[in-house]
Amino acid sequence: MEEKDSHPISFLVTDDNSHTLFSERFRATYHSTRGAISESKYVFIQNGLQYVHEQFQSKEISILEVGFGTGLNAFMTYLYAKEHALKINYQSIEAYPVPIIESVKLNYTNQFSEEEKVVFNQLHQQEWNRVGQISDSFSLIKHLCLVEEFNSPQQFDIIYFDAFSPSEQPELWTESVFKKMYDLLKVNGVLVTYCAQGQMKRNMKQTGFKVQSLLGALGKREMTRGLK
Ligand SMILES: C[S@@+](CC[C@H](N)C(=O)[O-])C[C@H]1O[C@@H](n2cnc3c(N)ncnc32)[C@H](O)[C@@H]1O
Repeated sequence: MEEKDSHPISFLVTDDNSHTLFSERFRATYHSTRGAISESKYVFIQNGLQYVHEQFQSKEISILEVGFGTGLNAFMTYLYAKEHALKINYQSIEAYPVPIIESVKLNYTNQFSEEEKVVFNQLHQQEWNRVGQISDSFSLIKHLCLVEEFNSPQQFDIIYFDAFSPSEQPELWTESVFKKMYDLLKVNGVLVTYCAQGQMKRNMKQTGFKVQSLLGALGKREMTRGLK
């Protein structure tokens, strides 16, 4: 798969002042308009990474993300891992990358140091389908492919399932995709998503996940965590 240069997106400022993007292709925003950084921290970091770190006292954690997008979840993961001295193997799947010329305009590093700005840009500049070392304790592979076509011999501790919603991308919330996610997780592995749709939860249960409904981000009623 090759990186396409025409990926129509526009910038929006969300309620916590962090940017999100609107995708013309999917007619959807990349994050909640109530706060991109706040949503990422709550759904993926607090209920995913922090949960696994605290529950299993893990110091080395492997993460697979569905939808690299703006790199915000990867950046929030880097910051949490640095604060807690964790070693992270981060892999992310993306079929329609945000061009670097656009990613540098994202305001996620506004309140951070120069060093962290460099890290955010490195996340985007890293070559596709190659292992890169963002820091001594943070390795990254970005897979340029469709999630439907992704395969890996490795299993992961956490999956950040961050596709566009079932109404925009029904083909990604199916039993067959969740079966693939289940197989990609280690025993006791955890999948987190902002989504709480009933059919999605039934599809997850059908593939073997124990499904937990948690309070959603920023006034949303629910989000979902699946345990293997
Ligand atoms: C909700 S956004 C992800 C937001 C991202 N996690 C972030 O932190 O900015 C969904 C992403 O999934 C990507 N995507 C959509 N369909 C895909 C597919 N079939 N395979 C892989 N990636 C896909 C989109 O290009 C988009 O970047």
